[in-house]
Amino acid sequence: MSLRHAVTVAGYEPFEAAEGQRLLEACEDAGLPIDAACGGFACCNTCRVEVEQGADHLSDRLPEEEPFLDAVAQRLSCQATVHGPVVVRLAPGE
Ligand code: FES
Repeated sequence: MSLRHAVTVAGYEPFEAAEGQRLLEACEDAGLPIDAACGGFACCNTCRVEVEQGADHLSDRLPEEEPFLDAVAQRLSCQATVHGPVVVRLAPGE
């Protein structure tokens, strides 16, 4: 059985992500209303989340994400892969 990690998104039922799964994909699989206007290519910020706990359990922040992040705790969920339990909230940009 593959390793899975708890993902909590504020306001929604907790769910699990597979080890190394993109956070965006895990959210979509769980049925969350998360947008991905650019299709997951780090070219928009509609998939943005704010990480409240477990930032160290996500893959490293990529240079491509920087232009779309307003705060240190933010990530583009299409670029962040899950490697442990995390708590986030949806924080889409416009
Ligand atoms: S879907 Fe556009 S940056 Fe993530």
